[in-house]
Amino acid sequence: MFHATVLTLYPEMFPGPLDLSLAGRALERGDWSLEARNIRDVTTDRHRTVDDTPAGGGAGMVLKPDIVAAVIDATSTPGDTRPRLLMSPRGRPLDQARVRSLSADDGALILCGRFEGVDQRVIEARGLEEVSIGDYVLSGGELAAMVLIDAVVRLLPGVMGNAESGETESFETGLLEHPHYTHPQEWEGREIPEILTSGNHGKIDQWRRDQAEELTKERRPDLWEAYCAAGKKNGER
Ligand code: ADE
Repeated sequence: MFHATVLTLYPEMFPGPLDLSLAGRALERGDWSLEARNIRDVTTDRHRTVDDTPAGGGAGMVLKPDIVAAVIDATSTPGDTRPRLLMSPRGRPLDQARVRSLSADDGALILCGRFEGVDQRVIEARGLEEVSIGDYVLSGGELAAMVLIDAVVRLLPGVMGNAESGETESFETGLLEHPHYTHPQEWEGREIPEILTSGNHGKIDQWRRDQAEELTKERRPDLWEAYCAAGKKNGER
């Protein structure tokens, strides 16, 4: 079972949106579990200090290595092989391949950064893998952790009702998804593309593939390049 342990200064932010919809129903069923731990609980001083000023000067505050190590050590049991992640804009950008590999693990220990950062020594000493959810800066790692958990949980066995919708969606194929339509046949003068009502499934699949390729070429040249390099382009596979 996938067990997520989140280390945060704001445990009350969890489960938050993860308690609703697909992830929430799976949480209720026991398909995965979540524990949010307050980093401040390991402090022993009167002020419950977790951070200090940056060595070398400058703005902001840095999470102390002894505090971070203490909370990690207190939450991971000896046989705990779960990956240890640090949500940070400095991390490797999260993608569907990493999400899929995480969904095959027993869970993850996820440290949410706040302030300017985390002392580098504890990142190294506790083997933290820095993960970013995009090239923008959030006020903390909590929302990023929720994004990661949501993406992972929906891939867990039994969580997604229609398994096929997982395989054809954006990023699993290396392409953005083709456009979708539903009834009515005509809406505000716009028709559903004729091919989709033809009943010819071979042609429909081909049309969807063409649309997905066009869209990817236009919007995501980076994905398109990787897709072409993998030799997946129409007619090449
Ligand atoms: N914390 C702040 N910004 C972040 C980002 N873009 N990804 C992950 N964690 C973050």
